[in-house]
Amino acid sequence: MLAVSVLYDNFIYLVCRDGQAVLIDAGEAKPIFQTLEKEELELLNVLITHNHHDHIGGCREIQDRLGVQSTSPGVEAGDFEVLGTSCRSVPTPGHTAVHKVYYFPELTMLFAGDTLINGACGRILDGTPEQLFSSLQRIKQLPDETRILGGHDYLIDNMEFARMVEPENADVQARIDCYQADPASAIFVTLAEEKKTNPFLRVDTVQEFAELRLKKDRF
Ligand SMILES: [Fe+2]
Repeated sequence: MLAVSVLYDNFIYLVCRDGQAVLIDAGEAKPIFQTLEKEELELLNVLITHNHHDHIGGCREIQDRLGVQSTSPGVEAGDFEVLGTSCRSVPTPGHTAVHKVYYFPELTMLFAGDTLINGACGRILDGTPEQLFSSLQRIKQLPDETRILGGHDYLIDNMEFARMVEPENADVQARIDCYQADPASAIFVTLAEEKKTNPFLRVDTVQEFAELRLKKDRF
């Protein structure tokens, strides 16, 4: 798996196997063309989490140049095979009314878009707190060893918020310290680590969740 930084703070991802790759989100085309060429990868498909410009802005150019299809977040959820492994698209509305995350059980990876951004969650734009809370609850049921790969690098801002919410949480400070030494290993942690440090996975009711999200909007 390759995480490619695009635009200002977006991550898009290439899942790679035997010289072939699938792209998760497509905010920008040029860095993808460069990575595919450098790594000698053939792109098979583009899986889109949601239709915000910073996740789809390069999609048409990639499709036109490489002749590949994209999978819209609007298509029916379910299991499919890609790169010789299984992938499950899971509806996770809340940040947007239509949002999918892509779970690769054999690779123990979740491409979480703007539903679960590492260290926090997306803003509620055209969904509801109830939707986003239940989407996060659905993600929480995945195996703890699942690596969480979100759509942005907001980690320091997210951990500063987490520290304000839970000043005594030593795991939060440890994740901040880790970021200074090696940003990638602090950002792309497992679900177990997210549960220790991500305040949005540490509330039990939708009311608590909605209040927390509002606080973060004003942070
Ligand atoms: Fe978004």
